[in-house]
Amino acid sequence: MTVSSAPGKLYLFGEHAVVYGEPAIACAVDRRVTATVERRDDDRLRVRAPDLRLDSFAAEFGERADGGVAVDADEGAVAAALGYVRGAVESAYDHVGERAGLDVTVESDLPLGAGLSSSAAVVVATLHAAVRAMDGDIREETLAERAYRVESDVQDGDASRMDTYCTTVGGAVRVEGEEGERLEAPELPLAVGYDGGSGNTGELVADVRELKETYGFAADTVGAIGDIVRAGRPAVESGDLDEVGRLMDFDHGLLSALGVSARSLDEMVWAAREGGAAGAKLTGAGGGGCVVALDPEGTALRALELAPACEEAFAAPLDREGVRAE
Ligand code: PMV
Repeated sequence: MTVSSAPGKLYLFGEHAVVYGEPAIACAVDRRVTATVERRDDDRLRVRAPDLRLDSFAAEFGERADGGVAVDADEGAVAAALGYVRGAVESAYDHVGERAGLDVTVESDLPLGAGLSSSAAVVVATLHAAVRAMDGDIREETLAERAYRVESDVQDGDASRMDTYCTTVGGAVRVEGEEGERLEAPELPLAVGYDGGSGNTGELVADVRELKETYGFAADTVGAIGDIVRAGRPAVESGDLDEVGRLMDFDHGLLSALGVSARSLDEMVWAAREGGAAGAKLTGAGGGGCVVALDPEGTALRALELAPACEEAFAAPLDREGVRAE
């Protein structure tokens, strides 16, 4: 039996703009998806994923006339959730050149579909554990690239390399186009607020694309987000928390202008700021899900916990380790 885990991540700067080749900076957070893989005696693949719920997915089980079980669920959502696991296993088969029967169990202590890259962590952890279960080896760059291809197949286009890269290597990372690099960052006191919901990444990305193609000033806004990332890099590397916070606030304003914030996200951002955050912004695709606050005094976390829009808040220190064998 092999067990691998991979961390979630949050965007410090640059989501959405990264889709158009601008740079972005993200941090791995110390909440993980764990995949356990065991070889079977036959050649079947069995997947258990008790935490793989999507917001739009509610299953109702009932008995069918023929004695089988009918599942009333959004089949597209179920197929997408399982698609990540199946895609990861197929990629592992391709990598080791063997198709062994496997039992795969995926568990998550990340909120799912909320902008913390749970799907990338599922793919990376499953691929890593499945390769090892078949006595194979995989290098970080190969794992990140394979995981990226699985994610973009399941999501059908328009995904950046950030999620799978950051989840694979851990720490603070910068991605621009096909290039990823780790940044030497000191400790960043981050806190996350989660509204209990999620946005539709595909739709939000498509909306921003349309805006950008319609208005020159929307295209300029995307470029300005890239400028924030360029200014943010030295601030992150030198641990200038005031500057990082100021740039996070600015980034949230530009993301709002592009239409990807939500009332719940704005409420949590303001609660965090009023609670003493050095800066706060939505993280990920937006529309709902999570905000990230830079919380040097530890007071913004409490403010987030008390915010009516916030269902769950937690400290999210940087996780310097990416995927690992447990
Ligand atoms: O919500 P998430 O974690 O899937 O982040 C999406 C971030 C985007 O920049 C909007 C898309 C991408 O693939 O980078």
